[in-house]
Amino acid sequence: MERTFLMIKPDGVQRGLIGEIVGRFERKGFTLIASKLMTVSKEKAEAHYAEHHGRPYYDDLMSFITSGPVFAMVWQGDQVIALSRQMMGKTNTLEAAPGTIRGEFAVHTNRNIIHGSDSPENAVREINIFFEPEELLDYSKTIQKWI
Ligand code: TYD
Ligand code: MG
Repeated sequence: MERTFLMIKPDGVQRGLIGEIVGRFERKGFTLIASKLMTVSKEKAEAHYAEHHGRPYYDDLMSFITSGPVFAMVWQGDQVIALSRQMMGKTNTLEAAPGTIRGEFAVHTNRNIIHGSDSPENAVREINIFFEPEELLDYSKTIQKWI
C-alpha cells in the first residue's frame, strides 16, 4: 500500500476545482488519509521544489505556489504514486491528454492545477514537509474489499 502527496495549487483552489479533483481520486478507489487548506510558506515552497532551484521558471513557481491557499492531501492505495501521476496528466499542458486533470482544466504549464509526488522517495519527503505524522489517519473503507 503506497502513499502519495497531492496538492491542488492556488489556481485550482481559486477556480473551485477541489471537489472535482478529490472526487476523481475517491472514485478511482484511493483513500484520503490527510488534507488541509493552507497557505504555503516561502520555506516550505523552497523545500518542496528544491530540485528546481535555478531553473528559469523557479521564481515564478515560488511566487505562484505561495500566492494563495492550496489544498494539500495525502492519498493511500495500491500504485497510487504512478496512477495519480497518470490521472494528473503530463506537466507540459500541450502533452496532457484529454481526460486527465491537466488535460481537462489546465491551459498553461506554469499554472497546471495540481502537484503529485513522482517517486516513493519524493512522496515521503513531501508528506513530511506538509504534514505531521499524527495528521495521517489510518482507517479502512469498504471499497478496500474490492480494490
Ligand atoms: P516538474 O516537477 O517538472 O513537473 P510536475 O509538476 O509534473 O511534477 O515541475 C514542477 C512544476 O514547475 C510544474 O508543475 C510547473 C513548473 N514548471 C514550469 O512552470 N515550467 C516548466 O518548464 C517546467 C518543467 C515546470
Ligand atoms: Mg515534479
